Amino acid sequence: MVWFNPFFPSPQRDNGYDVSDYYGIDPAMGTMADLEELVAALDSKGIGVMLDMVLNHTSTEHEWFQRALAGERDYQDYYYLRPAAPDGGLPNNWVSKFGGPAWERFGNTDQYYLHLYDRTQADLNWHNPRVREELAAVVRFWRDKGVRGFRFDVINVIGKPWELPSAPSGVDDRTMYTDGESVVGYLRELAAASYGAAGESITVGEMSSTSIERCIAYSHPQLGALSMVFNFHHLKVDYVDGRKWTKTPFDFLELKRLLTDWSLQMQVGGGWNAWFWNNHDQPRAVDRFADPLRYPAESATMLATAIHLLRGTPYVYMGEEIGMTDPRYSAIDEYVDVEAINAYAELVRSGVGPAEAFDIVRSKARDNARTPMQWDAGPNAGFSSGTPWLRPTNHESVNVAAEESAGRILPYYRHLIRLRKTHPIIAEGQVESFALEHPQVFGYIRRLGGESLLVLTNFYGDPTAVDILPEFITGSVLISNYGRSRAPLTSRCQLRPYEALAILTTSHEEI
Ligand code: NOJ
Repeated sequence: MVWFNPFFPSPQRDNGYDVSDYYGIDPAMGTMADLEELVAALDSKGIGVMLDMVLNHTSTEHEWFQRALAGERDYQDYYYLRPAAPDGGLPNNWVSKFGGPAWERFGNTDQYYLHLYDRTQADLNWHNPRVREELAAVVRFWRDKGVRGFRFDVINVIGKPWELPSAPSGVDDRTMYTDGESVVGYLRELAAASYGAAGESITVGEMSSTSIERCIAYSHPQLGALSMVFNFHHLKVDYVDGRKWTKTPFDFLELKRLLTDWSLQMQVGGGWNAWFWNNHDQPRAVDRFADPLRYPAESATMLATAIHLLRGTPYVYMGEEIGMTDPRYSAIDEYVDVEAINAYAELVRSGVGPAEAFDIVRSKARDNARTPMQWDAGPNAGFSSGTPWLRPTNHESVNVAAEESAGRILPYYRHLIRLRKTHPIIAEGQVESFALEHPQVFGYIRRLGGESLLVLTNFYGDPTAVDILPEFITGSVLISNYGRSRAPLTSRCQLRPYEALAILTTSHEEI
């Protein structure tokens, strides 16, 4: 499937995640005829389309919000409107994920509306059955266009308690509205009214600040809510005290622990992970976890191997398959994202020096992943003859044309994708942990029938060695990012910088 970020009409305050019409295509992106052609053309190649459903909030330019503002009571019930607190303050102490309070004055009234994201993204009131029916109709509309994949944006925050209570002092306000009891029920209702039972569509829920236990409930096949879930814990291992706008080297042992726990516990509970290193909200993983300057191909292919052979469904974000990196910008005014701009201002306001604040924003900004796809070495990376919204900075060397002719990353991704289709052990095998204490190597074992697969990835630029089980000493190499053709033939496996290696064995007794 190909997942598309939102292309619905939008004022583009948050890159299309502020939808003003769920039934249209933003003229800047194309037309409905284009979409229909896209669905048909991909379908003819056996590829499905996955659309991004932003159902937690609408743009304040959406007709529902506008009618609410114009005084229509029915539409006011589509949102969370609340009077000021008795002391005249805001209705509660929740903060927006993009900075500042989560409340904004509702027109000229004495009410406020809730917005967990930008103030132009008003949260929808899922308690209202009419809202739930409207949103199911949206999903049905796209299903009728032949769309069979849906990614649900921040879907675990739709179950807010009606009272919207303030977080008690010392309690993170996100816990007041995340993973609410009603989320699974709302999703099952949505499934029944739109995308269908398990297997009829492929669905993935974006789960912010979630838990394994909740994600099992969301993605368990018998509960029929979603096919799989994105969690973000493994992408917070370079945060200081859980705060994004900080800078520190990543905690490798914690990263391994999270990848392993989520793999094993989702397996035990019957849940299903969607695995990813990159998306439109994350800085490029090669810059965070590897070394794209000294080892561009090894870094990219090692990271890909680490998640593509895991139990779960891997996602590839545009440009990752050619080793795209964060852009090398040198001034804050090159960034355009509302979150980055707010974060920079907030850091400086809180006393962080401008140079340090810029360094932090440069390492964390979502714009890092949003530069145009680098097709070739020409102007604007071959993406457009117009002026792109962000400037590519290394397309002379990192681009699709170069990868197609002599690259090592794109062919490797194709190989990984093929392997999942030809080797059921990758898609269906059980997963076991491996070498949890090793300071440089992340690994795991997969098993299916009489087959076993050992996956080893060296996350550092220094060589290392790891002890492997005797059964793998003479196995066959399934994939290697150093072009190895033979198994190590010794129980101590040497790994070079950012090396990835997968060894397959078959136990003849069990066949
Ligand atoms: C998650 C999306 O991935 C992100 O880009 C967006 O800003 C928020 N949800 C709000 O819709």
